[in-house]
Amino acid sequence: MSVFFLFLLFILLFTVPVSPSSSPDRYTKSLLQPIQRRPREYLELANPLPSDFLVPSCTHQIFRYSFANTINSPPFSTHYTPPFDCPAPWSHVVLDLRAKCRGEQYDRIAGVWLGGAELLRTSTAEPTQCGIFWKVRKDITRYSSLLQRYDLNLTMMLENIVNNIYTGVYHITVTFLYYKDNAAKVPSLVSDPNFGLLRDKQRADGVRMWQGLGGLYEPSADFIIPISDRGDKGFWFRIESELDSPSKGIRIPRNTYRAVLELYVSFHGNDEFWYSNPPNSYIKTNNLTTERGNGAYREVYVTIDGKFVGSEAPFPVVFTGGVNPLFWEPVVGIGAFNLPSYDFDLTPFLGRLLDGKIHRFGFGVTEGIAYWLVNANLHLWVDRKSSKVHARSVVYNKPRLKIKRQSDFKLLDGSFKVEAESRALFVGWVKSSFGNLTTVFSQNYRLKNVVSFKNNGAYKLVKQKVRSNREVRVSNDRDQSVAHVSVKRGCPLTLITSTQPGRKKKKNTYLLVTNVSHALSERYMQGNSASVVNNMQDSRGWMEVEDHSVLSGAAITRQSVAYRNVFGCYLRAVLASKGRLISDNTTSGCLSSF
Ligand SMILES: *[C@@H]1O[C@H](CO)[C@@H](O)[C@H](O)[C@H]1NC(C)=O
Ligand SMILES: *[C@@H]1O[C@H](CO)[C@@H](O)[C@H](O)[C@H]1NC(C)=O
Ligand SMILES: *[C@@H]1O[C@H](CO)[C@@H](O)[C@H](O)[C@H]1NC(C)=O
Ligand SMILES: *[C@@H]1O[C@H](CO)[C@@H](O)[C@H](O)[C@H]1NC(C)=O
Ligand SMILES: *[C@@H]1O[C@H](CO)[C@@H](O)[C@H](O)[C@H]1NC(C)=O
Repeated sequence: MSVFFLFLLFILLFTVPVSPSSSPDRYTKSLLQPIQRRPREYLELANPLPSDFLVPSCTHQIFRYSFANTINSPPFSTHYTPPFDCPAPWSHVVLDLRAKCRGEQYDRIAGVWLGGAELLRTSTAEPTQCGIFWKVRKDITRYSSLLQRYDLNLTMMLENIVNNIYTGVYHITVTFLYYKDNAAKVPSLVSDPNFGLLRDKQRADGVRMWQGLGGLYEPSADFIIPISDRGDKGFWFRIESELDSPSKGIRIPRNTYRAVLELYVSFHGNDEFWYSNPPNSYIKTNNLTTERGNGAYREVYVTIDGKFVGSEAPFPVVFTGGVNPLFWEPVVGIGAFNLPSYDFDLTPFLGRLLDGKIHRFGFGVTEGIAYWLVNANLHLWVDRKSSKVHARSVVYNKPRLKIKRQSDFKLLDGSFKVEAESRALFVGWVKSSFGNLTTVFSQNYRLKNVVSFKNNGAYKLVKQKVRSNREVRVSNDRDQSVAHVSVKRGCPLTLITSTQPGRKKKKNTYLLVTNVSHALSERYMQGNSASVVNNMQDSRGWMEVEDHSVLSGAAITRQSVAYRNVFGCYLRAVLASKGRLISDNTTSGCLSSF
């Protein structure tokens, strides 16, 4: 099995001639000369965490493990125990993952689970001659109910291949940092890499400014039930086609008064660049060998007992080998080290779920091809004052998915358009010791995608826009609003690849000129207060490629992360090229231009 897999990999990497329509693709850049003599640090630019301004009450290394030839073996698993020196409750808990690798190896997907509930979906960086390292920090306070337990395993899956060609072993250390609201433990000055030394006031402002992005998970849930696979190959379900609809039966406590599902998704294989796939008619007409087809529309959906309860067009995360690996050094693509997850408020469905019976929670990918890794965590809040609450689902407005497609091509040139719009609305009431509360959950999104080819297919332009809006409103039986949370997301993407003949008169050598600009902007509303995050990346460059190895090239990436709420503003702008940050500016005052 694994020999066959290696053989396949060999074929894929070294013998398939490149047809223009198969770009974007993933590449390895191991043959490049070293630019620096020290190991390279990679990073993903993101918001600071509120806890970055505090000193942890305790820090516990959970595991240290080397992922060598882990393909086809079960994931790494270790027993987890909460810290005895700083027991719950915690104001914050942070997962800190550090990775080191030397030797050749390219982007791998990885997941970290606690008791089968996913805490982090991440991927790895591309190699350099002198080795690489990076760290990922994620606030995991929302998983507090699991983090307090003594009976769970912490599991990490990172499928890696080590052989004569790929020699890189990933050395991973995972540490949890626990924070208590205990001011006495906090020295009056805290050093922060972005801000230097912080005084008490600045620190308090920092914590306040970055708090409140927890959305639906504040306060954190009483129980978290994984909706995941058995775990012998990682807890994710592997979805290979539209026909795959994995599901899991779950019985939920009869005193649950609130339920939120958190979906983790990543896309690989022929769907790694799903937003750039042409329709099958284009591939067939031109006798292309690529299997990256099925058009450029994908939607991940969630069902309960076979009925639709939510869906999302996921953010197009580009991994470190994607499109042009020179773009993603040392700053990786948005979400590559900490993939976004997607939230669905299922409270309106409690009327169907509180009967004490098992219900099946399932997933699928509309028009998906191999392969997608999907699983979810079901967060539940229970009424401690009663053993049973009453609930009813009153409105179930199935999404009206409107989808329009336009296809216009002649041989290798032409363009393909998809426009999709989905709106869903669910309403239900729950009567618990908190009163009779009605929850309205609405989820809408719009996707526009155009893939076009010119110059005999050698020039490819992808433009995609996704806007989604989800809103939760809770009101009491006097029709007074008691809670209101909304998240608006916008994810524009423009991608250009232009394939040109290589300079070397060598077979399979070609030049790729590439441009990618994408963004993840989010606007959170909680009651009357808004927080806006705008994360934008703009990369351009070229590379000379032999099969899938980068021989030479140059690239430049600009990224800015801007954040604003009532407590202040933050802006970090970087310019990266040749594996270095050429410029890195952080401003924490509110500028007029922002
Ligand atoms: C935890 O992992 C060990 C092996 O590492 C296994 O024997 C044990 O059954 C696991 N426990 C749970 C609760 O999954
Ligand atoms: C594709 O293959 C068929 C059958 O071999 C052939 O008739 C057709 O001309 C080919 N099309 C192109 C665009 O090469
Ligand atoms: C809860 O409120 C809803 C809407 O106001 C109402 O229709 C329902 O009968 C109430 N349920 C109970 C048990 O009072
Ligand atoms: C990439 O973007 C730059 C700047 O917008 C532009 O000059 C260049 O032509 C683009 N490259 C391609 C292949 O379109
Ligand atoms: C950082 O600030 C300097 C000086 O104001 C400016 O020249 C540079 O363009 C800025 N860099 C970025 C990436 O915005």
